[in-house]
Amino acid sequence: MTAERPEVEAAALPHEGANVQPAHTIVIVGAGQAGGWAAQTLRNEGFAGQIVLIGDEAHPPHERPPLSKAVLSGAAAPESTRLMKPEAFDALAVHWRPGVQVRRIDRAARQVLLSDGAVQPYDKLILCTGGRARRLAVPGADQVPLHTLRTLEDAQALAPALRPGRSVVVVGGGWIGLEVAATARQQGAEVVVVETQSRLCERTVPAEVSAYLLALHRAQGVRVLLGAGVRGFARAADDHLEVLLADGSALACDTIVLGVGLVPNDDLARAAGLACDGGVRVDAQCRTSDPHILAAGDVAVAPNPWAGRSLRLESWQNAQEQGMAAARSALGQAVDYQPLPWFWSDQYGMNLQIYGMPTPAHRVVQRGDPASGSFVLFYLAGDVVQAAVGANAARDLRFARRLIELRKPVDAERLADLGTPMAKL
Ligand code: NAI
Repeated sequence: MTAERPEVEAAALPHEGANVQPAHTIVIVGAGQAGGWAAQTLRNEGFAGQIVLIGDEAHPPHERPPLSKAVLSGAAAPESTRLMKPEAFDALAVHWRPGVQVRRIDRAARQVLLSDGAVQPYDKLILCTGGRARRLAVPGADQVPLHTLRTLEDAQALAPALRPGRSVVVVGGGWIGLEVAATARQQGAEVVVVETQSRLCERTVPAEVSAYLLALHRAQGVRVLLGAGVRGFARAADDHLEVLLADGSALACDTIVLGVGLVPNDDLARAAGLACDGGVRVDAQCRTSDPHILAAGDVAVAPNPWAGRSLRLESWQNAQEQGMAAARSALGQAVDYQPLPWFWSDQYGMNLQIYGMPTPAHRVVQRGDPASGSFVLFYLAGDVVQAAVGANAARDLRFARRLIELRKPVDAERLADLGTPMAKL
């Protein structure tokens, strides 16, 4: 599947060991995790040209996982989320443009137009624009304060509201919803989660994992409402806020958090006429429909053989690895980015990990008992493990990953038997 790129201009950019061409400029739009890794990788691969990193956030590249956990609880300082130590970031000699937006891509002239009026030419452009928290267009949504959680500022704004005696309604029982609910409970707040689907994390996990997560949160005292639509928001007379539900009832609370999904920031790409389909379409070389423009991270829709279709992988792993792959591809290196999806979430000290893409068509083999606190669910097609989900079972999951990648048939009985070490399989 590795298709060598038959392009002329790639040869003008430095390959491994080739002469460096300082005149070249690679512009990265978006200074999040994917953008940060793209910049680092360009230098690691020997690129000595100009790197321009343009990001509308005020901070140098940072990682988002702690924002809904340690930063939200106050256990970690915001600076601890930085992708690189300040010295390492400085050493990249990147021309970093914080707080600046790219307004338009002029593909014909190969330049981007910035919110501060500047015009920035590029030889290669890497779009790492990520996504933004989806809002709800329901009555009252613009009348009451609604928190979302995507940025460092979002986490800092929400943190003081999570404390004993305060009540929080989290709209959305996906990953943001559950991680915020867990942090809020641990901080002593009362929490209600309102999910429109009939189960939690319906987009990303099979029903048995949703059931496990539901039991976990209910055991921690979270009230979880499933199949509950939100018809609006209001202010109650006593200074409380209200979440108005479709069944006519209302939930009074101090704070409302929306975790209802991510909207990819592909507006720039669409306006520039790049092929988009719920995100910027790229191939396994991270190339968009314009040979001078690449994309990576939450915004990129890429073919994934493990899923059997093209999709956006909204994960930490993908932001990092696709950012690196896009950088190498921009340098003309052979890249074939087809990751086995990997995702994790930490809630109440429980670590959940997912490898691959489990589907209802798979046969489920269980190893360990959820009641014991540690288990793995394997998802098989025939005798071959295609995906695995586990809680507090990091070591077994590392072996599961190898089983999936090897595509080796396994004996389901031995897989389920805790007495058979995973290494033996
Ligand atoms: P999500 O897609 O995981 O979950 C959104 C949830 O909101 C879904 O369960 C959906 O059914 C529900 N929903 C949608 N409209 C609703 C409505 N009107 N009322 C009630 N529920 C509604 O997206 P989420 O949780 O917002 O996360 C955003 C992004 O951040 C995702 O890409 C996610 O993967 C990522 N993330 C990753 C984490 C991790 O890696 N551990 C942690 C937190 C977020």
